[in-house]
Amino acid sequence: MRAAPTTMWRSPAAPACLLVAAVLLSAVAAATAGEEYVKYKDPKKPIGERVDDLLSRMTLAEKIGQMSQIERANATSAVIEKYFVGSVLSGGGSVPSEKATAKEWQQMVAKMQKAALKTRLGIPIIYGIDAVHGHNNVHNATIFPHNVGLGATRDPKLVKRIGQSTAHEARATGIPYTFAPCVAVCRDPRWGRCYESYSEDTKLVQLMTSAMVPGLQGDAPARYPKGTPFVAGGMNVAGCAKHFVGDGGTRDGINENNTVLSFHDLMRIHMPPYDDAVIKGVASVMISYSSWNGVKMHENRFLITDILKNKLKFRGFVITDWQAVDRITTPPHKHYYHSIQETIHAGIDMVMIPYDYPEFVADLTTQVSNGSIKLDRINDAVSRILRVKFAMGLFENPLPDPRLAGELGDKEHRQIAREAVRRSLVLLKNGKHGEKPVLPLSKKADKILVAGSHAHNLGFQCGGWTVSWQGQGGNNVTAGTTILEAIKAAVDESTVIDYTEHPDKSSIAESAKEYDYAVVVVGEEPYAETEGDNLNLTIPSPGPKVIKDVCGLVKCVVVLVSGRPLVVEPYIGAMDAFVAAWLPGTEGHGVADVLFGDHGFTGKLPRTWFKSVDQLPMNFGDKHYNPLFPFGFGLTTKPSHSQS
Ligand code: GLC
Repeated sequence: MRAAPTTMWRSPAAPACLLVAAVLLSAVAAATAGEEYVKYKDPKKPIGERVDDLLSRMTLAEKIGQMSQIERANATSAVIEKYFVGSVLSGGGSVPSEKATAKEWQQMVAKMQKAALKTRLGIPIIYGIDAVHGHNNVHNATIFPHNVGLGATRDPKLVKRIGQSTAHEARATGIPYTFAPCVAVCRDPRWGRCYESYSEDTKLVQLMTSAMVPGLQGDAPARYPKGTPFVAGGMNVAGCAKHFVGDGGTRDGINENNTVLSFHDLMRIHMPPYDDAVIKGVASVMISYSSWNGVKMHENRFLITDILKNKLKFRGFVITDWQAVDRITTPPHKHYYHSIQETIHAGIDMVMIPYDYPEFVADLTTQVSNGSIKLDRINDAVSRILRVKFAMGLFENPLPDPRLAGELGDKEHRQIAREAVRRSLVLLKNGKHGEKPVLPLSKKADKILVAGSHAHNLGFQCGGWTVSWQGQGGNNVTAGTTILEAIKAAVDESTVIDYTEHPDKSSIAESAKEYDYAVVVVGEEPYAETEGDNLNLTIPSPGPKVIKDVCGLVKCVVVLVSGRPLVVEPYIGAMDAFVAAWLPGTEGHGVADVLFGDHGFTGKLPRTWFKSVDQLPMNFGDKHYNPLFPFGFGLTTKPSHSQS
């Protein structure tokens, strides 16, 4: 990973006479060069002055263009020029072509940027994407463990390195902005997005947030004004703390539903990570689809403007979620026109309007022209967007850097991901009662069995938000190492490995005595957002049967690949050892590293492991707390070499 090239940021105040001299020199230089001096184009000027100068030159159409973020598929040069588009995004799975290379991504972004730079004022677009566990939309990118696994590491330094690697891989494709980190505090594992949350515990989410934001954006200098967006040099990216606020606290974990809490509890449980993100200079905040006490977050002026902007001093920009303005429109009571008015009035600055941008632009223009939306509100929104673009050097360095293409899937990043995998695994059982520990496993076994649907499936071990929005199974999803491949690489070449995805009990019984042990890998298939909402949280079939059949015949280690705790109590007695692997990503070697003792288990539960879903929601600190495994639990093992 190369050191990040530095770039301009807020120049320290200089004596007035020097400033006057600088202005005169700049003006003289421009005049001799035969062009008008344009303050906003002068990187030596304080960002505030550049924002004010540019804003004063903008038409209403150019201002509303800056507030529009459209989907890649619609972002032709003609559309970008016609609508003065300020931002483009890749929705989950939206790529220039299947298995597009870093170079192809760069070419796509550069084409859009050149169109933006051709507009009257030459304001660059900011291209955003969901790089939420590595640069996961992109084929061959390093896929890191999802956030629930990072919470299990308890290691902010590691998480910061993951942020840096992710930023470098995003820049490899010419993309300077990611909709990450998700700073949700997931209070109910029935929520389909719980794996995107570092923990049920607010303080652990704060610890991870305070590492990931500077990992992505760079470290804001000491005494940097609180809330001012900070994005360092050309290998960092702008981040986005999401989804504001209380997305992880909805009733029964139902996605996009209602979080019923007192203001005190909302501020105690869900707000602190946003304060940390703002302190670290986060560039943007995305609003949640969910509601707080029945009020849609996208219309909540009190929380967005009074709390986030005025109390927490957030000076970056607030962005909607995907088509969120449409989703609060409920004709005949509330038309789209009213939804725009409510959201902009609430304090939204940029609208993720993937397809219907003509209607959005027309409606907003009408409302500003007839005074139902104040021009001051538009100017505040545009100033925030421009502040981020100036702060991250986008005017000085608008185009992708071809030198960075090689960062995609870089082997150093994969080593960091492998370390994150082994540090994220949580050992919950190691040896039956009264028997000696099973882990670490011997590398010199004569014959072992590897069984289950998730042992050799790269897509399953990566989970949702991987190449496609929902993720998918299979081994040609992207480049990586499955758990089976990692086991084969770890054991002695003389060890015989029998692999079966769907073991047959009778055939296992015939050769059971030949096996030194079995590794059973089962779990959840990929999902994202509402598709992952689940009220029963059982291990998907045929997982339970595989566990019972194999563990009833052979000494077994069960590895569970899932986005959250699942119902395991009925099977835990049959297991000799049990490992929660969460959603480890592409670097399966990290699983073998701890199974075979090259490294010890160190992971700790980032979430309570319930006995039954009837107990939910149940979180650390609750009065009635009776888990199978408590928050923070995790057995440890010593590396094998230390045992010799
Ligand atoms: C999705 C998600 C959000 C994501 C956005 C853009 O619906 O809610 O997390 O950043 O749309 O893909």
